[in-house]
Amino acid sequence: MQLREKKVALIAGASSNLGLNLAVRLLEGISSSTQLTLIVTSRTLPKVKEVISDIKKHAMSIGKDTNLDFDYLLVDFADMVSVLAAYYELNKKYKRIDYVLINSAQGVYSGIDWIGACKEILAHPIEGVTNPTYKTQRVGVKSRDGLGLVFQVNVFGPYYLIYKIKHLLQNGGRIIWISSLMAHPKHLSFNDLQLLQSTESYEGSKRLVDLQHIGTYKKLKDGFGIEQYVVEPGIFISYSFFQFLNFFTYYGMIFLFYLARYLGSKSHNISGYIAANAPIKCVFGDEPRDVKVGSACERNGKEYLIYHEIDTTGAEDVTSYLDKLRIEWDEKLKDQIVDSRKI
Ligand SMILES: NC(=O)c1ccc[n+]([C@@H]2O[C@H](COP(=O)([O-])OP(=O)(O)OC[C@H]3O[C@@H](n4cnc5c(N)ncnc54)[C@H](OP(=O)(O)O)[C@@H]3O)[C@@H](O)[C@H]2O)c1
Repeated sequence: MQLREKKVALIAGASSNLGLNLAVRLLEGISSSTQLTLIVTSRTLPKVKEVISDIKKHAMSIGKDTNLDFDYLLVDFADMVSVLAAYYELNKKYKRIDYVLINSAQGVYSGIDWIGACKEILAHPIEGVTNPTYKTQRVGVKSRDGLGLVFQVNVFGPYYLIYKIKHLLQNGGRIIWISSLMAHPKHLSFNDLQLLQSTESYEGSKRLVDLQHIGTYKKLKDGFGIEQYVVEPGIFISYSFFQFLNFFTYYGMIFLFYLARYLGSKSHNISGYIAANAPIKCVFGDEPRDVKVGSACERNGKEYLIYHEIDTTGAEDVTSYLDKLRIEWDEKLKDQIVDSRKI
């Protein structure tokens, strides 16, 4: 019997719309002679079970269920002990990981300023549904670790995990960070890298994702043979915003998304499947690493890639800040997980 080539992929935040579609497209893109182990992450077991069952159904429908094994990690990036435990588990179980997709993210939204939304959308319909400023975010929210919550979940937690598992990725592994179209330099102040004073911490965190990518991708390539990419998935339906919408506002939002696409927006992908195009092209293809690769589509939904230049100002400052913090946390966490048989 011929042995199948083996690949291992980790999708952080697999339970989201994009996360599920990343898994689906990964499976579609993988050769039928490859055995794929998919490690899905979530903070909760019920969501892990749900996403594994959804992916299994798809795998069966395309005849790739025999190519697929599952594993899961319960990891909360807002908790550094949980991040460390994820590292221990991966290190114990795997000799190699081929692909890591950092798709998980959190915002600290408190609602929608409906009056502001109407004004913004009426004045500039496409801009109003591309770079909305009417989603209100809480300011100064810290994690139990005492770090800026959005900073920790979207940037530092994954950064720390990648640092810890990079020996598993060396010589050909790929890391794909999911950023956003909204990662504008104006959303980040260098006096507030943990985004604790920011009213736009989500957008600021995505700017940090871009800058840490610029500051690290060459070192990862030269030092470890790891290819790192940063992508943006355009705009698509997110499960996480349902809590702020009712039947009318949900369908109103979808209508505006289609209208924006009709009026010429190339980033209103709407479907999670189209949004997953850029990340998956970076998994399998040879995309540039000094730009942000974006998922885009035409009016009829035909997908294509776009490339965004990244303003690199401050990339070195951001990576040296993250490295300093990483060393601090190495020290804080050094006695956290002990072998109880040796006590
Ligand atoms: N929706 C858009 O239009 C859009 C646009 C640009 C970029 N993006 C980016 O695309 C990615 C996916 O977006 P989405 O809207 O599909 O996501 P979403 O519905 O908001 O889901 C977020 C995912 O992140 C995980 N997550 C949240 N907090 C976490 C934490 N503290 N620790 C570990 N995991 C955590 C969740 O996992 P559990 O709840 O299962 O734990 C969930 O799977 C995100 O990076 C987002 O920023 C989205």
